[in-house]
Amino acid sequence: MTGALGADIYDCDPIADFDAIHEAFVRYSAITLRGTKLTPDQHLTLAERFGDINVNRFFTPLPTHPAIALVVKEAHQTQAIGEGWHTDHSYDTEPALGSLLLAREVPNVGGDTVFVSMAAAWEALDSELKSHLLTLHAWHETAHVFGRRATKDDTRFRNAEVANQRTRHPVAIRHPLSGRTCLYVNPVFTTAIDGLPKAESDALLASLYTHCTDPTLHCRVRWQPGDLTLWDNRATWHKAINDYNGQRREMHRITVTGCALDAASH
Ligand SMILES: [Fe+2]
Repeated sequence: MTGALGADIYDCDPIADFDAIHEAFVRYSAITLRGTKLTPDQHLTLAERFGDINVNRFFTPLPTHPAIALVVKEAHQTQAIGEGWHTDHSYDTEPALGSLLLAREVPNVGGDTVFVSMAAAWEALDSELKSHLLTLHAWHETAHVFGRRATKDDTRFRNAEVANQRTRHPVAIRHPLSGRTCLYVNPVFTTAIDGLPKAESDALLASLYTHCTDPTLHCRVRWQPGDLTLWDNRATWHKAINDYNGQRREMHRITVTGCALDAASH
């Protein structure tokens, strides 16, 4: 899609063409299969080719398919799920490999999803800063996002009482599939750089986040019903663009289990 990441794929059979899809997933980090006619069962079958399903504890599932999370914004709601830049499940000790988001109902215009290449973000940093970042780890937490105070009466979320994850990951990871170095902190779930005074940690994270908002690192998916985007959680950030108040949007998300993340070495 852009010089940084992303690919559109047309006229494929997601199951029969799986090897090519997996190769594109590793290479482009966010791939959109356009115009699929996948049923929920087929959506699950494709996800299971990537790995075990990781059922999100905080999202309400599809009533008929407990492994599929409903990501909905009703016409009367003003807040979308995932409006801030983030990486799904970075708070887990073995963060998710990726997610498969399938559009069921989309607004006339708007409701796009923007992705950031965290490999390209890393490569664009200067070498002195990279050397420093390679020595650091950061904390990722959930309470401030999915805890009771954060979710209040929003029925799209559940299990606020188990929003107690606090996990440490390297700030620069070696991607488990591509081997590329990826910056692995995000504004929603990362709370601090381990071992740094708060002011220094906050300033360093803020400067990295500003760096990652450069549009040369991005791609943007415009959805039609049936489109399925698979993104690599270890290699991307994403955010939902909330610009369609008054219209309904319904997406189905399946998340695939990943692995513990090793620090990059260069
Ligand atoms: Fe997300």
